[in-house]
Amino acid sequence: MLKVENVKKSFGAATVLNGVNLTVRPGEVVSILGSSGSGKSTLIRCINGLEKLDAGRITVDEFDVSKPKELAEARKRSGTVFQLFNLYPHMTALQNITLAPVEVLKRPRAEAEVDGRALLASVGLGDRADAYPAQLSGGQRQRVGICRALAMKPRYLLLDEVTSALDPEMTAEVLTILAKLAAEGTTMVFVTHEVEFARQISNRVVFLEKGTLLVDLPTKDFFDPAGGLAQPRVAQFLSKMRKD
Ligand SMILES: Nc1ncnc2c1ncn2[C@@H]1O[C@H](COP(=O)(O)OP(=O)(O)O)[C@@H](O)[C@H]1O
Ligand SMILES: [Mg+2]
Repeated sequence: MLKVENVKKSFGAATVLNGVNLTVRPGEVVSILGSSGSGKSTLIRCINGLEKLDAGRITVDEFDVSKPKELAEARKRSGTVFQLFNLYPHMTALQNITLAPVEVLKRPRAEAEVDGRALLASVGLGDRADAYPAQLSGGQRQRVGICRALAMKPRYLLLDEVTSALDPEMTAEVLTILAKLAAEGTTMVFVTHEVEFARQISNRVVFLEKGTLLVDLPTKDFFDPAGGLAQPRVAQFLSKMRKD
């Protein structure tokens, strides 16, 4: 399980996470919705151990991200894809994907390359293994980013607005891949503004508002007028998303 317990995080005087609790069980797809600035990326960065917690605890399969000796194990179990394409520009798609399996997991390069090529083929990029990021479209780069995370065989895939810098066509390419991963049983924490898509693939939807998890419900209940929608902030957010 991935467990976030009463996590607090401030930057200076600004409280960004104010006692967040979230549990993600293997096989679940949990979408995180919330306005810009509500703390979604900070939460993902805390799960990665990229931000130090002010209070509370985060464990990934029992490994505590705040304990230096456990962080590496926690990180191996969670793979993250960020909004901005953070591929290494001087490496090909395949080199980006095989770097961590070879360097961190000490897998034989030839084996990692076979797996890397299979991953690229699975996202429709079987013929672009030797392309550099600058030679790929945004949607293709983001698909390589997903392959790079999956190459570590993470138990939890964390996705932070992976489509928000993409045009609608490229967004659709990437969402198709994520729908396939969800159908295969990949455990995902999916930060997104793609409300309709989140509704289709998620088991649960949570709503973050000013650093507090206002709602955490099974998807059907989240979108029910008597459930999540009964929260004025959620209703307001969803109606705004539909207009945009
Ligand atoms: N490193 C940082 N230093 C100072 N403020 C930060 C930092 N990271 C995030 N913030 C602030 O924390 C708040 C939440 O940011 P973020 O987690 O990125 O929200 P979201 O991803 O939901 O849009 C914002 O007000 C943002 O400006
Ligand atoms: Mg963000």
